[in-house]
Amino acid sequence: MAILDEHMLEFFSRSPEQTRRIGMRLGGALRAGDILCLQGDLGAGKTTFTQGLAQGWGSLDSVSSPTFILVNQYRRADGSLLFHLDAYRLESVPEAEELDLDAMLEEGALIIEWPERLDGLIPNEHLWIELEHISDEHRQMKFHARGERYDELLDGVRQSLFGGQ
Ligand SMILES: Nc1ncnc2c1ncn2[C@@H]1O[C@H](COP(=O)(O)OP(=O)(O)OP(=O)(O)O)[C@@H](O)[C@H]1O
Ligand SMILES: [Mg+2]
Repeated sequence: MAILDEHMLEFFSRSPEQTRRIGMRLGGALRAGDILCLQGDLGAGKTTFTQGLAQGWGSLDSVSSPTFILVNQYRRADGSLLFHLDAYRLESVPEAEELDLDAMLEEGALIIEWPERLDGLIPNEHLWIELEHISDEHRQMKFHARGERYDELLDGVRQSLFGGQ
């Protein structure tokens, strides 16, 4: 585990449960307008992490991979929304442009799997999270905060992992 700079955090998860747990801590801090980008190969753990995020956020709905539908929408008891977009099956840039990210962000927080397929459409300020398969149950997670709001969210993750050292 290493803290490389204040806008970045690196962490090694040793199980799907641990990945979900980290997601839960971050999910609890999410609010409308927040964007989390989850980059990583097939099976890296993006959806697993999203399960934790949604649970920590307080979702009434369970997380599934948005395979045929591009965007899933989860609800919370207070009426707020969490959007979960999987860009893997996006065929083209025009198709991507039809996704109204701004409209989603006005209504809720947004989690994006395969964000690199939405190149140029993602607002400059976001939390970028890279997940990498190391071995069976071992994943590297790298968090990059882009913008003040995301430094704040990253601080929260850091505090819960390392007690704020
Ligand atoms: N430390 C870990 N963190 C997350 N997932 C893990 C870990 N160890 C093992 N796994 C397993 O790896 C798989 C990750 O699958 P998941 O659907 O989350 O990946 P994904 O990145 O969303 O893939 P896709 O690009 O296909 O949507 C799950 O079966 C999960 O149980
Ligand atoms: Mg997935």
